Amino acid sequence: MTRQALLAAGSMMAAFALTACGGSSSTATGASITATVTPTPTPTPTPTPTPTPTPTPTPAPITSASIAEFTTLDLSALANYANPALPPYYDGTVPDNTPPGNAVTDRIATLGRVLFYDKRLSVNDSVSCASCHRQANGFDDPRRFSTGFSGAAFTTAHAMRLGNIRYYRPGTMFWNKRTASVEAQASQPITNAIEMGWDASAGGIAALITKMRGLSYYPDLFTFAFGDANISETRIQQALAQFERAMISSNSRWDTAYAQVFSATAQNRNVNVTLPGFSDAENRGRQLFMTAPNAGGAGCAACHVPPSYALAANSDSNGLDAGETVIFKSPALKNIGVSQAFMHDGRFATLDQVVEHYNSGIQAGPALDNRLSGPGGNPQRLNLSAADKAALVAFMQTLTDGTLNSDPKFSDPFKK
Ligand code: HEC
Ligand code: HEC
Repeated sequence: MTRQALLAAGSMMAAFALTACGGSSSTATGASITATVTPTPTPTPTPTPTPTPTPTPTPAPITSASIAEFTTLDLSALANYANPALPPYYDGTVPDNTPPGNAVTDRIATLGRVLFYDKRLSVNDSVSCASCHRQANGFDDPRRFSTGFSGAAFTTAHAMRLGNIRYYRPGTMFWNKRTASVEAQASQPITNAIEMGWDASAGGIAALITKMRGLSYYPDLFTFAFGDANISETRIQQALAQFERAMISSNSRWDTAYAQVFSATAQNRNVNVTLPGFSDAENRGRQLFMTAPNAGGAGCAACHVPPSYALAANSDSNGLDAGETVIFKSPALKNIGVSQAFMHDGRFATLDQVVEHYNSGIQAGPALDNRLSGPGGNPQRLNLSAADKAALVAFMQTLTDGTLNSDPKFSDPFKK
């Protein structure tokens, strides 16, 4: 039997209660791992979506009194979300899950920023998206499990970093991929009974929309973003998704170094050559990360694919538990160095523990990816030296992006 992607339907609460069976996944896993990990055969890049023609709203972009009362936004000088300057290696070879109808625009992403930070989006004005996705932590939660609006109930999964979310090509969201897109995901925490509390008993998202109509700044902001004051679930989803897709990480130490050696025509785009400015340990870690196990490496890049470090579309699970049947994904590894709990259940507290898992802890099971099996199909045992394990950790720390983690355009726009 082929592996089944068992998708848990329903709420985040039931994150890992498997209730539904997704389609069988073709296990096109890396049967042929070559000496240098070829970045996963990336599908033809999405045809660059034609930017949604920004509606020309009638009022000139002047910050209304209500927006100025609550936020620090200046609508006549918007941040650039739509066309940030990116390094040349962020080209058409990097998969992108932006759908044709929702390309990032400055106006709608600005609305998304307000929504992301607005505690009024929870039933009792206590939590926003940013309560669990904190900018300083790469939009992750430093806590293993997050507290929801009640302050007493916890999520059953660890939160996920949001940087480079757009580069996970399947676009499916949550650890177990149960939601189809960044857009579809955005209303899930809102209606979740633990997280933001607008479940059926609270009137659902319709009740939130009624509440938002009564907040002076939203009709103005929706008009600014969409051309009229209509507030709908679809628009809330679009705005949050645009803000999240704008969270691109391209300023880590790894990026600075790689930009100096990148060549679009070189073999593997020079992703596995010695990097300037890196310590010996960081360069050794880079080599282990990028090189396949059968060539003396640790094979990480076959799934966590540079330059975005988003997970490869065809990755199966990484053998955390024996007999695992769920196929999990990973958020991009950018900013992994500022996370404090790792894997879907936050079971590891340090990157050393993560590396030891890949070194000696992989468990067999139906969802285990072939790339983590050694000869004979048994779970791999890398037998790395202590120095090599430390080198892998040192390399992952070069993926920390202080720019994304402090850029004002991704910060809280509300007046304190
Ligand atoms: C109470 C904490 C909490 C709040 C509030 C919260 N999240 Fe999350 N978020 C999580 C957790 C936990 C997960 C992982 C859940 C899972 O996979 O079951 C997650 C996962 C996600 C993912 C999936 C990322 C990926 O790569 O698959 C996205 C996107 C996301 N959240 C966006 C948001 C947005 C947008 C909001 C606000 C509307 C929000 N979150 C509010 C805790 C929270
Ligand atoms: C077969 C694909 C695959 C390979 C190869 C692989 N990983 Fe992973 N990795 C995953 C998956 C899937 C997850 C998420 C697992 C989960 O939480 O259930 C993950 C999770 C992680 C995480 C935690 C992410 C987070 O946000 O908590 C780190 C760190 C990580 N991997 C590092 C590595 C390193 C280092 C290597 C090489 C030694 C490696 N991975 C090799 C698929 C892979």
